[in-house]
Amino acid sequence: MSKLSHYKELVDSFIDELAEVKRFPKVFQEALFYTPKSGGKRIRAMLVMCAASMFGADDAESLHIAAAIELLHAYSLIHDDLPVMDNDDFRRGKPANHKVYGEDLALLVGDGLNTYTFSVIADAPIDDTRKVKIIQWLSNNAGIGGMVVGQVVDVLSSRQRLEGYSPKRLVNFIHKHKTAKLIQASVVCGAICGNPDEKQLNRLAKYGLYAGVAFQIIDDYLDVVGDEKKLGKKKVDEINNTLTYPRVYGLERSYDMAQRLKEMAISQIEGIEGSKDLIDIARLIVERDR
Ligand code: IPE
Ligand code: IPE
Ligand code: MG
Ligand code: MG
Ligand code: MG
Repeated sequence: MSKLSHYKELVDSFIDELAEVKRFPKVFQEALFYTPKSGGKRIRAMLVMCAASMFGADDAESLHIAAAIELLHAYSLIHDDLPVMDNDDFRRGKPANHKVYGEDLALLVGDGLNTYTFSVIADAPIDDTRKVKIIQWLSNNAGIGGMVVGQVVDVLSSRQRLEGYSPKRLVNFIHKHKTAKLIQASVVCGAICGNPDEKQLNRLAKYGLYAGVAFQIIDDYLDVVGDEKKLGKKKVDEINNTLTYPRVYGLERSYDMAQRLKEMAISQIEGIEGSKDLIDIARLIVERDR
C-alpha cells in the first residue's frame, strides 16, 4: 500500500473511533459523523501527515491534527451544501447531510464539528507550544481570515458583482480564501508537529497556497467537464452563478493556470529533504478526476 493510502486508512479509522463515542440524542451522534465518515479523498489529512513526517514527527503525533482538519473540512462542506448556500443535494456520493437530517440539524452539526475540531487538537499527543501554533494557523485560515471570508465573497459575488473589484481579482480572492487557506493550514500545521526551521515553514506555506488555488481551479474545471457520479456531488456552479476560473478565464486557460500553480508549488519545496510526498500530492491535485 502506498504511503498516501496508508495515511487515508489511519485517518478513516481514527474518525470511525471518534464517531463511536456515545452522544445524546442518538440522531445527533449519527448526523455529526454522517459526513465525516462518508469518505472523501482525505487530501488535507494526507498533507498534514506527509508534512509532519517530513520534519521528523511520528504518525501518532500528527494523526489527531489530520483528523481534526478533516472534521473542520466536513463542517465546511455541510454548510456549503445547504439550500441558502450552494443548494447541493449530494455529497460524497450520498444525499447531503441536510437531505438526511434536515437543515436545522445540518446547521448545528456543522457548528458542532467546527468547535470539536479544536478539542481533538487539544487532545493531540504533542506539546502545548506546538498546539498553540497549530490553533493560531487553523483558526485564522479556516475562519474569518480564510475559508469563512472566502465563502462570504463567493456568495456575494454570485448575487451581484462587488463594486470596484474586477472578476479576476475577486475569483483569485475567493479561491485563495475559501479553499487554499485551509490547504495551507494543513501543510503548515503538519510541519509544526515536527521541527521545521522558519525558512522551511515559509516555503511550505507558499506551497500550500499555490497548490490550494490549483485545487479549487480543478474543482471548478471538474464542475464543467467532470462526471457527477465520480465527483459524488451535483454540478451546480452554473445554476448558482458562482464566480469560477472557467467563467472568468475559459476552460483551457484555467487548466493551464492550475498546471502552472502546481509547478510553482513544487518549486517551493523540491529543495527540502523528504519533500517527495508533497510533490506527489501537488500532482494528484491537478491530475484528479474527482
Ligand atoms: C471539496 O473538497 C470542497 C472544496 C474545497 C473544493 P474535496 O474535493 O477535498 O472534497 P472531499 O473531501 O474529497 O469530499
Ligand atoms: C468549496 O467550494 C467551498 C468550501 C469551502 C467548502 P465549492 O462550493 O466549489 O465546493 P464543492 O464543489 O461544493 O465541493
Ligand atoms: Mg460553494
Ligand atoms: Mg459547493
Ligand atoms: Mg465546486
